Amino acid sequence: MIPYGRQYIDQEDIEAVVEVLRSDYITQGPRIEAFERALASYCGVDYAVAFNSGTSALYCIYKALGLKEGDEFITTPITFTATVSMGVMLGAKPVFCDIEPDTGNMDVNLLESLITERTKLIVSVHYAGHPVDMERVWQVAEKYGLYVVEDACHALGSDYKGHKTGSCKYSHATVFSFHPVKHITTGEGGAVLTKSYELYEKMLRCRNHGMVRGEDWEYAIEFPSFNFRITDIQCALGISQLKKLNHFVQRRRHLAELYKEKLGALESLSLLVEKPYAYHSYHLYPIKLTDKERRREVFKNLRAQGIGVQVHYIPIYWHPFMEKLGYKKGLCPTAEDFYQREISLPMYPALKEEELELVVKRLRSLIDG
Ligand SMILES: Cc1ncc(COP(=O)(O)O)c(C=O)c1O
Repeated sequence: MIPYGRQYIDQEDIEAVVEVLRSDYITQGPRIEAFERALASYCGVDYAVAFNSGTSALYCIYKALGLKEGDEFITTPITFTATVSMGVMLGAKPVFCDIEPDTGNMDVNLLESLITERTKLIVSVHYAGHPVDMERVWQVAEKYGLYVVEDACHALGSDYKGHKTGSCKYSHATVFSFHPVKHITTGEGGAVLTKSYELYEKMLRCRNHGMVRGEDWEYAIEFPSFNFRITDIQCALGISQLKKLNHFVQRRRHLAELYKEKLGALESLSLLVEKPYAYHSYHLYPIKLTDKERRREVFKNLRAQGIGVQVHYIPIYWHPFMEKLGYKKGLCPTAEDFYQREISLPMYPALKEEELELVVKRLRSLIDG
């Protein structure tokens, strides 16, 4: 099976991990800060906190910003559940912004119409690795005094108007995930980057039981929290992977070019675009079928032929947990239409050109026959 995404691990990565396994600290040692510094420096920002997942990273930045019951946060329905469910866990209400059909990102023109007295936060998700139009998000946020978080779990290595995603030029914080299908991996893992020392400190506490260390054996628990710590084993892998990130992104961009060349002219599907303000890092390669009635059949056929396609995403408010909160189908028509047509094709640095050819050939024989 050719998967839709997978990690790329080389000998250097293996040696970095083995070295930690032989050292004194396999967790809570020096590699964690070293990884955080490397990430912050790559993105050109002051602080980074690494977590055991992108999900826990989202939880802690929401918590650090004070998101709570009675607050609303605006985000897209075309995302992974964690973007939304971590806010719901804190008692806040998600408000869904419909999307642009050509990028899959939230349509920033709609933001102002969704703001109420309760709105605290806008969470922009850089779908598939294409940055949201962040300067416009920031303008709206400044006008209404809102916080902005970038869920950049898809978008490490991308740029917005020449600013690295993670630089927090137009946000209070940026979240990454290091799951194996993402741009770099730590097995499981995530991080939040920020320019704010205050948010940085709060997130360090949130990561470790709400704990503040005192003298000798003493410590104080300032608020109940979780163990969201990442290990040195994971961070050693992260440091080694980060060295290869630019190369990974270049390779993804090359594969995207090839797909565009081979699929761009077909009437039976449409491709997403790269806007002039974006340097796309292609976590995913989504296509949209012209005939949405054929999506399931095409998906099943590709899977049966060894092409591990995926669908990103079922609109979040279609899930039972959201239905129970009173959300109904029909809320964001463009997002629903997008979901009904979408299929993600294989996209990862180790994907061979012959494999890409095979994906294209099998897809074409199904939809262009
Ligand atoms: C947009 C988005 N947000 C958050 C997450 C959560 O990250 P993790 O799987 O590392 O917990 C993911 C992961 O798939 C994601 O795609």
